[in-house]
Amino acid sequence: MTEAAVQAAAKVSLRGVSKRFETKKGVLEALRPTTLDIAEGEFVVFVGPSGCGKSTLLNLIAGLEQPSEGEVLIDGKRVTGPGYDRLMLFQEHALFPWLNVLHNLEFSLKRKKNLNRRERREVARYYLTLVRLEKFENSYIHELSGGMRQRVALARALAPNPGILLMDEPFGALDALTRDELYIHLQEIWQKTKKTIIFVTHNVREAACLGDRVCVFSNRPGRIKSVFRIKLPRIRMMYDPAVSAEGARVLTELKTEVHESVDPRKSNEKTVNHDRILSLTGHTMGDGI
Ligand SMILES: Nc1ncnc2c1ncn2[C@@H]1O[C@H](COP(=O)(O)OP(=O)(O)OP(=O)(O)O)[C@@H](O)[C@H]1O
Ligand SMILES: [Mg+2]
Repeated sequence: MTEAAVQAAAKVSLRGVSKRFETKKGVLEALRPTTLDIAEGEFVVFVGPSGCGKSTLLNLIAGLEQPSEGEVLIDGKRVTGPGYDRLMLFQEHALFPWLNVLHNLEFSLKRKKNLNRRERREVARYYLTLVRLEKFENSYIHELSGGMRQRVALARALAPNPGILLMDEPFGALDALTRDELYIHLQEIWQKTKKTIIFVTHNVREAACLGDRVCVFSNRPGRIKSVFRIKLPRIRMMYDPAVSAEGARVLTELKTEVHESVDPRKSNEKTVNHDRILSLTGHTMGDGI
């Protein structure tokens, strides 16, 4: 699709969206004016240095925050708050600890008025199997590992089949094998359901594996400084050399950004400080053995 066509048929439109936070120390500029059009069914990935405003932008699209300037449009309509058309999967899971795994998923389906109890259970079990947690449906959240909790959170986000899925580093806590499997499942689900997905990650290979487009953010206050179009066929595998090559392209761009933020004088100060703290605390080799 040409850029002009994407603009005309945009599912999500960011028009000069910026965000400033009032803090005790003054105004903190989290995001500089950002403009981007995302087509329906597109998979867009945001990568960038820590603190550059990726989660902030996702929160603005989710309607959990309001922009300081500009506007977010969904299907041409201005976002003024959260809506069922957008589902957010956070950096940390937000599961209900008082419900077991199956009930967590069923709860997310309650607003689907066309489903009866039995159908809700059927849908919930389908997604639990997808994330390979079918044997844990009766477990409570505190009984699961971090990675398992994140998989339940993914299943819960997918189950109601929202039009737009906002995913904030959802796979950070997963082991490599589970993650690779989920990359495949996520691409399959995305292809089947034609969801629009906006996905935040620090992992450039993950970005190249999943994204139709990868948006690289500048340092804080961030803005989208370059956009890579990844034209590889689906379903992409994480360790495909073509995916690695695309990831390397994104990494090169990202590295210039991260390096720009490193002030060698400051990193030297950190070393001096480190030595001083160790001497103050009486650290000697072999302490504690
Ligand atoms: N509610 C808030 N109040 C004040 N400052 C905030 C708030 N939310 C975010 N910030 C600040 O805005 C900046 C951008 O934060 P954000 O969480 O969007 O970064 P990020 O790109 O998601 O980083 P990371 O990759 O580490 O998750 C940071 O400096 C953060 O401290
Ligand atoms: Mg974040």
